[in-house]
Amino acid sequence: MTFIKISNLTKEYSLGETKTVALNGIDLQIDRGELVILYGPSGAGKTTLLNMIGGLDIPNSGSVTVDEIPVSTLSAKWLTAYRKKKVGVVFQFFNLLSRMNALENIEYAIDLIGVKSTDGKTSFKSKIIRQKAQEYLEKVGLGDRMHHFPAQLSGGEQQRVSIARALAKEPEILLADEPTGNLDFQIGRSVLEIMEAMTGKEQNRTVIIVTHNPAICPLGDRVVRLSDGKVAENYTQKFTPAKDLYW
Ligand SMILES: Nc1ncnc2c1ncn2[C@@H]1O[C@H](COP(=O)(O)OP(=O)(O)OP(=O)(O)O)[C@@H](O)[C@H]1O
Ligand SMILES: [Mg+2]
Repeated sequence: MTFIKISNLTKEYSLGETKTVALNGIDLQIDRGELVILYGPSGAGKTTLLNMIGGLDIPNSGSVTVDEIPVSTLSAKWLTAYRKKKVGVVFQFFNLLSRMNALENIEYAIDLIGVKSTDGKTSFKSKIIRQKAQEYLEKVGLGDRMHHFPAQLSGGEQQRVSIARALAKEPEILLADEPTGNLDFQIGRSVLEIMEAMTGKEQNRTVIIVTHNPAICPLGDRVVRLSDGKVAENYTQKFTPAKDLYW
């Protein structure tokens, strides 16, 4: 079943006189529960495509549909609702809030989507939020850094806070832009293991991981290679578990 459907998607950026075609007629279909590796060189359009799927940017033409929601034509109000409800994003440059410590950054993100308490009401200051935030910081190996502010964390630690923040939302769609870029091998692989565990039959979450590292491609059920804003390759394969990857 097609979950994400991208048709003839085009994005141009204009900076003064210069025009850049970041996406040039992308067609792509992704099933629910797939783990997709979006691979390609710097400037290929990976972040731009991810932003379109996440409803963070608007195309010039073409369409993005997610679970039959016409993401590329939603009004601002519905776009915000879509992002909150369905999507978790690990940004390439982290986007952590500098005035909040690691724990608060994650609590804030969970707060934005709300957490359902057992009586069905949305509770905002609950223990559940703190527990979830702590749980995911521990999962990424930052149990001892919860009260550090972003400026007091290394690049790789900030990256892991940003990963924990996206995971803690337990989103239907996880979009991760170079999530292992600043991590050493061991931690990078354990992060990929967490993302892998989100997909598959039981979880049924859809994960798209952007990377320029070819060693990560075997992890994908599907590999999409972008080149100059176009899909140069798109194939499915029997994935290799993250624990068996080396780089
Ligand atoms: N806001 C913008 N204004 C103008 N040009 C942009 C903008 N964002 C991206 N571009 C251009 O669009 C092209 C695609 O950029 P994009 O960030 O999607 O590449 P990428 O594949 O994510 O690269 P990297 O691996 O370096 O992150 C690049 O040529 C870039 O310079
Ligand atoms: Mg990028």
